Amino acid sequence: MRTYWSGGVLLLILSHGMSAAQTTIPDLPKSFRFCVATAAHQIEGHQNETNYNSDWWKWEQTGHTKNGDTSEIATDSWNHVDEDIRNMVALGVDTYRFSVEWAKIEPSPHVFDEAMLDRYVSLIDRLKQNNIESMVTLYHFTLPVWVSDQGGWEWDGIADAFDEFTRKVATRIGPKVTLWITLNEPITIISAGYISNIFPPAKNNIKEIGLPMANMVRAHACAYHTLHEVLDSNVFKPKVGIAHHLRVFNPLRRLNPFDHYLSRKFDEVSNWAIPDALITGVLKFSVPALTKANYFIPEAIGTQDFFGLNYYSRDLISLSFRHNPPIVRSVPTEAAVSDLNWEIYPQGMGELLERIHDYYPDLPIWITENGLADQTDEKRMPFIEAHLNEIADQIKVGVPVEGYCHWTLNDNFEWAEGYTAHFGFYRLEPSTLKRIARPSVEAFSKLVNAVKQKK
Ligand code: FCB
Repeated sequence: MRTYWSGGVLLLILSHGMSAAQTTIPDLPKSFRFCVATAAHQIEGHQNETNYNSDWWKWEQTGHTKNGDTSEIATDSWNHVDEDIRNMVALGVDTYRFSVEWAKIEPSPHVFDEAMLDRYVSLIDRLKQNNIESMVTLYHFTLPVWVSDQGGWEWDGIADAFDEFTRKVATRIGPKVTLWITLNEPITIISAGYISNIFPPAKNNIKEIGLPMANMVRAHACAYHTLHEVLDSNVFKPKVGIAHHLRVFNPLRRLNPFDHYLSRKFDEVSNWAIPDALITGVLKFSVPALTKANYFIPEAIGTQDFFGLNYYSRDLISLSFRHNPPIVRSVPTEAAVSDLNWEIYPQGMGELLERIHDYYPDLPIWITENGLADQTDEKRMPFIEAHLNEIADQIKVGVPVEGYCHWTLNDNFEWAEGYTAHFGFYRLEPSTLKRIARPSVEAFSKLVNAVKQKK
């Protein structure tokens, strides 16, 4: 039996006989990799650069974030590289997932900023000197304005443009990096940018999501082939994947057939349409009266060396004609939730891993993101332990999960939430941007050390 409470010390996981106050060590293999994940736009800021060339920067200028927050400073990561690497070493991670910023590297078509590329190469070298491997994401939610001005993910030139950018980055970074993520959470761009208006381009048009989705699959496929073309050698082969955002979708009302139907459709379109297209070469879905797609993209077949899973939470789905589209996503009453009111639902990690392995048995899996907004830090370690226990259970029955990236190192610019959501192991002191360890840092490093020192 497992039960979650949302009061007091908050998360009690009876199935593992553990109270939230103590750290239990998940039964993970010694070879399991630990990582923290970030994204360029959320951490870098714009200091020392006259570069304000991304669609997100434009979006922030027009009042689309909480408190009108902007990414101007973010975590000022380029001026805190040493401190951040020291803090990663303190956490005990062996991998750092970060993204390279297309809008800074290629501020206008075919014009590349070599100095910016140098910074990323030197970051990778400094990480390596500290025994930390890099996992590089090529696209994490932000497009150069010259791309978004031509239609962004609806532009028929975007796959070629992304390909040219990928070739440049791959050539400069070379075999220093094994793990590559082409796209972060394509489905989040679709849901936040094309169905709701939380992200640019704020299209609010569920009917037309097929084209941007197809272009994402095309762009990924081009980048996959290019990374292998540029980097494969007799002694080196990169591993390339997508960080997919998967959620658990359950019907709100157990006896309501519409809620059941819609939650199945959510699962089909939101969770599996893109991953399936990378196996079959066909991006296909249909939700009668709402949306459909059918694109043949043969170059996408077999373009995943591992499955990247970003897992955060679950949604209960219901039909409601008071909304447009007539679908509501909600959180169970009584559920344990994060500061953003996202349900804490660790068993979803287990469920999704089981399904990923069932559908794509040949693919190794990386947890490319998992975490929660938790300013007081009371829920963070119980959250991490509960999710790692789910992962350990799946590994024991043969699901090949290779590593876990926690989102995230420092509190940062959390898109539409601005600076109000605190996902970091470290909080930032507002006036100095000094990184202050939350209690979870010590607990997490103990957990990592205990796993690594297993007999
Ligand atoms: C994920 C995003 C990441 C961050 C976390 C909280 O969906 O990939 O950038 O916003 O959520």
